[in-house]
Amino acid sequence: MKFEKREVNETAQSVNDTLENYVNTAVRSFDNLMGTLGLGGRAADYDDTAYEFLGGANDELRKKHYDKSLRLLWKAEKHAEWSSFKDLNKEEETLLKLASESLNKLEKKELERMKSAEFKALLNREYTPEQKQALVNILSMIGHGEAYAWLVSNEVLRDVKSTGAKAALTMQVMEEAKHFVVLRELIQAFDMPIPRLTGYEYLILEGTLKSKGLEKFFGMNVLVEGIALSIFGALSKFPGLEILEMFHLDESRHCALPTNYLKDRPLTWWEKNNPVSTIKRFQLVLPAIPLAFKMEKDFAVLGIDVFDFGGSLVRKVLNLAYRVGFHLPMPQEAMKEFINFLFNAYCMATRKEHTYQKYLDREATMGEKERAVEQEVFMMASA
Ligand SMILES: [Fe+2]
Ligand SMILES: [Fe+2]
Repeated sequence: MKFEKREVNETAQSVNDTLENYVNTAVRSFDNLMGTLGLGGRAADYDDTAYEFLGGANDELRKKHYDKSLRLLWKAEKHAEWSSFKDLNKEEETLLKLASESLNKLEKKELERMKSAEFKALLNREYTPEQKQALVNILSMIGHGEAYAWLVSNEVLRDVKSTGAKAALTMQVMEEAKHFVVLRELIQAFDMPIPRLTGYEYLILEGTLKSKGLEKFFGMNVLVEGIALSIFGALSKFPGLEILEMFHLDESRHCALPTNYLKDRPLTWWEKNNPVSTIKRFQLVLPAIPLAFKMEKDFAVLGIDVFDFGGSLVRKVLNLAYRVGFHLPMPQEAMKEFINFLFNAYCMATRKEHTYQKYLDREATMGEKERAVEQEVFMMASA
């Protein structure tokens, strides 16, 4: 292409360049000083001279979490046709149409069942009002948790170093947004009152949002997402709740994120063991115990002993926490014993003819696929 080059005032250009250089040096020096003094400084942990976030590229984490999330990104319109979501693109829509045209009569009927009014009718057929309310109570715990997961992952995005880690967290933010809105529609379809956050859960979620830096990984990706993963794993085989399998896949990736991230940048001995951090973590875990007591009735309505569920959950969460380096004030085995003791003490006080149980040896995840996914997350933590 041919351009008519225009004349410029070279002196003015040179003054512009010098001025910009002064301003650049001044603002960066000021921010450096404020940063050194602990008074703020540059907010973005971004190195524009290297065109990279601080921490480097970290392509491994990007591939394992960001790319994989993109690959596995599921569309609510496809998996929850009864919902109001319209997130399929043209090709996906055509594919789905073709697929539905190739379905036999029975399969088409099955597909129809999933749609809006039909879906509500299915829920009414499958569950009594009491069971519906129990499911709403359990699922809404996670529903509120998703709102916090959205906020917390958005903050952790600021705290993790490297481009790969930020890409991974970006996908988590997107997935949590989807979880919140899709799960809300699922819960609303039950047409039952949706409870507020319990006080115990409030303590866990607020405590997590307020925790500093990578400690948020403990509160959210280990503890809260561990609870979510277990609930999705326990319920995804229930009629009408098949979509929870998709949530389960995402949450397993979120639970694996601290392991993958901290592999390259392990916590220091002090970060793992200092008494302030271990006690703060313990404070986040503690409300989960009375929460289990409170949820006993709802789980019981669904035929699940909350302590079988809780034992399975506590084992997985503690294994993951200790392996990543988020230590609690007691050694791992003593911690497990302590929680098992509390569960048994409660049962001893409230159940007739209770005999001492090893609740932490239980397995509450129902589906084969879900168990395999969890195996990968929790075994990987030990590798
Ligand atoms: Fe989530
Ligand atoms: Fe999550």
